Amino acid sequence: MTDSPTAFFTASTHERPSERAYAVNLDSQSPLKTRSLFQIPDRATVRSAARPTQPPHPTLADDTEPSLYFAGNSLGLLPLPVQTALHTELQTWGQRGVLGHFSHPSHHPWVTVDDNARHLLSPLLGSLPSETAIMGSLTSNIHLLFAGFYKPTPQRFKIIMEKGAFPSDRYAMLSQIEHHGLNPVDVLVEVTPAPGEKTISLDQIKRAIDHHANETAVVFFGGVQYLTGQVLDMASITAYAKHKGVPYVGFDLAHAVGNIPLELHAWNVDFAAWCSYKYLNAGPGGIAGIFVHEANKDVTPGFRGWWGHETGTRFEMTGEFVGEEGAGKWRLSNPSVVDVVALEASLRVFKEAGGIQTVREVGKRLTAYLEHLLLTRFPVEEEGGERPFEIVTPEAPWRGQQLSLRWKEGGVEELEKRLFREGVVVDTRRPDVVRVSPAPLYNSFADVWDFVDALKKVVDAEKKQ
Ligand SMILES: Cc1ncc(COP(=O)(O)O)c(C=O)c1O
Repeated sequence: MTDSPTAFFTASTHERPSERAYAVNLDSQSPLKTRSLFQIPDRATVRSAARPTQPPHPTLADDTEPSLYFAGNSLGLLPLPVQTALHTELQTWGQRGVLGHFSHPSHHPWVTVDDNARHLLSPLLGSLPSETAIMGSLTSNIHLLFAGFYKPTPQRFKIIMEKGAFPSDRYAMLSQIEHHGLNPVDVLVEVTPAPGEKTISLDQIKRAIDHHANETAVVFFGGVQYLTGQVLDMASITAYAKHKGVPYVGFDLAHAVGNIPLELHAWNVDFAAWCSYKYLNAGPGGIAGIFVHEANKDVTPGFRGWWGHETGTRFEMTGEFVGEEGAGKWRLSNPSVVDVVALEASLRVFKEAGGIQTVREVGKRLTAYLEHLLLTRFPVEEEGGERPFEIVTPEAPWRGQQLSLRWKEGGVEELEKRLFREGVVVDTRRPDVVRVSPAPLYNSFADVWDFVDALKKVVDAEKKQ
């Protein structure tokens, strides 16, 4: 990423990007009208996070105003339709008990409750509905997928991933390797950024594949890197690995789904897993999912459960497993209905917004505006020192709706507290990274302007102390 501010233009405005009116104007032109469908925590609540053990201070004039919430990459906000959907489902449970499994007032009996969510999610993944299953949680799904796709032999046993992957992914890989009685030192190939670089390049990934292709069983990367916000070229990684004879390529899409458009089927990705509580806004710990390419219909799940049995004969209870078509056979248990309907309701918001392409288009502009304001409000040549952070996220298109700021002096915990006091929520990773994510479904351009303004005030106040 360059460190000089890029110009940020729109056609029809007289204001300059540095003025708040410019941001308000951009909001009025935005095709997204979904902000009002979300509950945005108020400032008082966010302020209280800065001093959890102290009594509330006198109410400030703007305490009931919405906070500046920029942590959608960690936990997406509550879509109001989710509340309604949950309430309806609880009513059905109360009124019908077990009958709700097969007879339901909203025509989605619990036995096939995940069908709607699967169909709504597929356009975001670029998958066939039959390649998509709604199930479990991210880390356990990674394990389940590896139990089917990772079958090491003396010739092919390596896993290529990145160094600095989300810890759960690394733990999953280490435990999978150990489960097969192998030594991670011989098996795990971890690609690191080149010296002086902030992120890994496609060339480095290709070099690792070149070097280890003949012994590699699986290539597995995060589609969007959780800490830097880098979007990996999933199409090229998949094509290259397969061209070199690697049998399977998979992705962790925790930070990708709902953030950037995906084409998993067309890219020939073999398998993928994600969670739904970030950009999909399906709620804390919400139900996750998997993608298994139809070309892998003969890959046998390493573990089986009754919910993977074909739906039509599941209740015949023969005890002889007949797998559901497609990704459905990887399911183990009947899914949590409240989780599934929450996901379904949150996915309907994407549909109402015009789909992931529209969300992405607005997201690109929001992120570019955030970048522009950060670089112009914190100029390098500012009197009294240099910019206190560097942006480690790559330039568009290799980023989603997240900029990661590496704070040169560290101390992000204290910064986070100060931001809380201003009614701002960001996502910090000790010791020095602040992740700022403008989520297009509910963050406005005015939010972005207000955020950078608040950050500037906080940094300036700290300098004076
Ligand atoms: C990239 C990535 N992988 C794995 C996980 C772990 O997810 P879970 O706790 O839902 O298994 C997360 C959680 O944030 C993540 O960001």
